[in-house]
Amino acid sequence: MKFFLDSVSITEISDSVQLGIIRGITTNPSLLAKEADGSRGGQFNISLKEYIKAICNAGPGLPVSVEVTGETTDEMVQQGLWFSQWSPQIVVKVPLTGAGLKACRGLAEKGISVNVTLCFSLNQALLAAQAGATYLSVFWGRLEDDGQDAFSVIKEIHHMLQETKCSTQLLVASIRNMDQVRRALFTGAPIATLPFSVLKAMLQHSLTDKGLEQFRQDSKIWAHYLFQDH
Ligand code: E4P
Repeated sequence: MKFFLDSVSITEISDSVQLGIIRGITTNPSLLAKEADGSRGGQFNISLKEYIKAICNAGPGLPVSVEVTGETTDEMVQQGLWFSQWSPQIVVKVPLTGAGLKACRGLAEKGISVNVTLCFSLNQALLAAQAGATYLSVFWGRLEDDGQDAFSVIKEIHHMLQETKCSTQLLVASIRNMDQVRRALFTGAPIATLPFSVLKAMLQHSLTDKGLEQFRQDSKIWAHYLFQDH
């Protein structure tokens, strides 16, 4: 399973890229709203275009999903075409609605990568795949918030994409904790997009900290030999 980072924070993106553990970046209007809000510590006080370009530069070569806000197909296609001029890394994110799927088809026919988002069922997934989605974002956390069995829904969608030999890549989104990552892995889905907090939590283990402390203490005994070369 590959990991994408679900974030618009330049610091988080740079840190994750340096760790060498992410293969893409996903953004959404709510994450951007938080970053645009100075009162909540947001840093985003330049145009969307400049901010998204900064995200692309922080993750060189990585696909960066940016969501349209238009409501009609025409508006979505226009926005998508505009976004895609900002960087070859842009993946246009469209909602899983009738207008969104028409925009997906239109953009895909122009060779633009599309991430169809807000998918919650096998039926929706079948339609998005037919419309030429490059990525399909299925929301684990929100399915569970709704009392649904996210594991089964996502496993079924993965199975369908494999059986139909569809090139659409399943992207598990709305992951909020490590247990969801572990269960997402066993659905067979190829990609999960994770918040930075979850990536950081995955890095940590108390036995690593304990072992490191022990090694640090023991190394003091022979530290004075370290730079001797005979
Ligand atoms: C996916 O692309 C979305 O940005 C994100 O994963 C949504 O997560 P949430 O349900 O925790 O808001």
